[in-house]
Amino acid sequence: MDVTIIGTGNMARGIGTRLVAGGHTVTVLGTEQSKAEELATELGTGTTAGAVGDPLSGDVVVLALWYGVARQVAAQYGAQLDGKIVVDITNPIDLETFEPIVPDAGSGAEEVAAASPGAKVVKAFNTTFAGTLASGGVSGQQLDVLLASDDEEAKETIASLVESAGLRAVDAGPLRRARQLEGLGYLHMAVQEGLGTGYGSAVKLIS
Ligand SMILES: NC(=O)c1ccc[n+]([C@@H]2O[C@H](COP(=O)([O-])OP(=O)(O)OC[C@H]3O[C@@H](n4cnc5c(N)ncnc54)[C@H](OP(=O)(O)O)[C@@H]3O)[C@@H](O)[C@H]2O)c1
Repeated sequence: MDVTIIGTGNMARGIGTRLVAGGHTVTVLGTEQSKAEELATELGTGTTAGAVGDPLSGDVVVLALWYGVARQVAAQYGAQLDGKIVVDITNPIDLETFEPIVPDAGSGAEEVAAASPGAKVVKAFNTTFAGTLASGGVSGQQLDVLLASDDEEAKETIASLVESAGLRAVDAGPLRRARQLEGLGYLHMAVQEGLGTGYGSAVKLIS
């Protein structure tokens, strides 16, 4: 599958690493072409680079961006996102106070959906830390990726993508479940100091 990742930071690297390992073709778009080229070289195996604003290729677009920026970039792309699967990974937090933000729409993912009404928005990856995605697991355990979307087909496509990348997909329900996923993502960050694992832990459902 052809996947465009917008962003060149920690999560772009983590998700890109897993997707390339799963045999997918990745295009990275950065605020600067040079940042995207650097990450594309790191990810290797046919990864290409461009700048934010470049035309989108492929059917899946991952917004590896902070809350607020994701919505802005979705709005910037406008109708180009129509029919595409757009993956929102944000955990809305106030970067100065580290307190969670409750978006007006209920969740960051629902704000992205409002900004790009023709897109099929899927919430994913917000409960998995970047470093654990890059390494592919924690203590030999497969990572769980919780998914929420109102578009069942899009959710199934992302579940297949996740599974092909060596991760376990867990269906969390409709897009409004992103509210709980973002709460869980925040909680996972908030316990880091006490846990002392330096963002190296994973949220996993066991049975
Ligand atoms: N890090 C984690 O472990 C983790 C885990 C779960 C979820 N998340 C979520 O993932 C998202 C990204 O986190 P991250 O750790 O990858 O952040 P990051 O390393 O800071 O990367 C953010 C990316 O956004 C780009 N960016 C900033 N402003 C932009 C704009 N106006 N237009 C286009 N691109 C812009 C940055 O580009 P420049 O560097 O050029 O500014 C950078 O590539 C956040 O929403 C976070 O809540 C993170």
